[in-house]
Amino acid sequence: MTDVIKNGTIVGNTSNNIRIASQRRSLVQGLQQELDILDQKHLLRQRRTVETPSAPSLRADGRDLLAFCSNDYLGLAAHPKLAEALQEGASLYGVGSGASHLISGHSRAHAVLEERLAEFVSPYIENARALYFCTGYMANLAVITALAINKDTTVFSEALNHASLIDGARLSRAAVQVFPHRDYTALERMLQQCKTKHRVVVTDSVFSMDGNIAELAPLLAICEQYDAWLIVDDAHGFGVLGEHGRGVLEHLQISSPNLVYMGTLGKAAGVGGAFVAAHSTVIEWLVQRARAYIYTTAAAPALAHALLTSIDIISGEEGQQRRAHLQKLIALFRNGLHLQVWQGMPSDTAIQPVVIGNNADMLRVAGNLMDQGLWVGAIRPPTVPVGTARLRATLSAAHTEVQVLQLVQAINRLDQMSYVAQCFAEVA
Ligand SMILES: Cc1ncc(COP(=O)(O)O)c(C=O)c1O
Repeated sequence: MTDVIKNGTIVGNTSNNIRIASQRRSLVQGLQQELDILDQKHLLRQRRTVETPSAPSLRADGRDLLAFCSNDYLGLAAHPKLAEALQEGASLYGVGSGASHLISGHSRAHAVLEERLAEFVSPYIENARALYFCTGYMANLAVITALAINKDTTVFSEALNHASLIDGARLSRAAVQVFPHRDYTALERMLQQCKTKHRVVVTDSVFSMDGNIAELAPLLAICEQYDAWLIVDDAHGFGVLGEHGRGVLEHLQISSPNLVYMGTLGKAAGVGGAFVAAHSTVIEWLVQRARAYIYTTAAAPALAHALLTSIDIISGEEGQQRRAHLQKLIALFRNGLHLQVWQGMPSDTAIQPVVIGNNADMLRVAGNLMDQGLWVGAIRPPTVPVGTARLRATLSAAHTEVQVLQLVQAINRLDQMSYVAQCFAEVA
């Protein structure tokens, strides 16, 4: 054993250092083994580096592609007016916020945006106030943990909820019960039997991997009957659904004092961040109590400033035209798809999944589309249940009809080839 001396001080000895180094190596080896297992199960994910603005025609990893995988449903992410507004925001407010909202990071840009968002959803939320968050993930953590006041709370979580809602429920330390997808009778039974003092029901509005919409009217009625909050995550509805783009509340014409609404601003709104809108007392509670709001640096004020232009576009004539075009594309995709082996899903939204089944087949199909220059999301477990790996095609108002037809024809062709291969396999 030899002492290791640095600047005249003994900082360790060689046998200790060798032991620590081999422990480190075995920790790394352990992770590598886990990665190898993921690889064997075809579950390794891969990032592609996009070199151009987010738009249907883009360049990624040096290749020109036609993309059907962003959530930029209205095609605003590369809108010149938004880029201009962002530059204006940076010259007015600088780049960083410098601190969390409750210290000195709450800028006038955040305050003005919150007022605008509250006004936007006010037809559906009484005494509405809004709170801007850095991301939808954080907004969901914040709102669930703050409303699940203590251990005397049960969170009822929809089976197909987004990961951020699931994580929020876990983090809350409340009891968590999962109710089956859109089965509100089962939820009602659970609420009847619930013994805790507080109840919080949580659901996506548009299910992010299926594209279908929750039936919020009966769900709200049940929540009111059992004195439960209803947190609605409208990540895929805000800006897209409803005549004025006010989201699922406008689409379904619903409103309730039990409702807590979360909309994201990095999808249809084209920028980034999210907001929670609810009765002003609920929002004040979040400001005081939501740790994911309090203990983080506020988003860049310039983003909030740019979002004002985004809301103007969404709520104005241009927004209506973009939504109308998107609806046309959705119909074109759905009517054009003729599948024999794979399965489309009953979705009327911009999210159009095609279920392939096992991971390896799905990767092959996504790879084949990629070879044709078509980039479609390849979704595998744990994001979706085992055996339901799927293509998640997302449509945007920035797509043309010709581009959507190109995708539909490519999927139909691959499905047909798969059908023929299956027939041969059965005969052989
Ligand atoms: C349903 C749902 N909720 C929340 C989020 C998180 O939003 P953000 O991307 O702003 O963090 C997403 C994003 O993918 C989502 O699909």
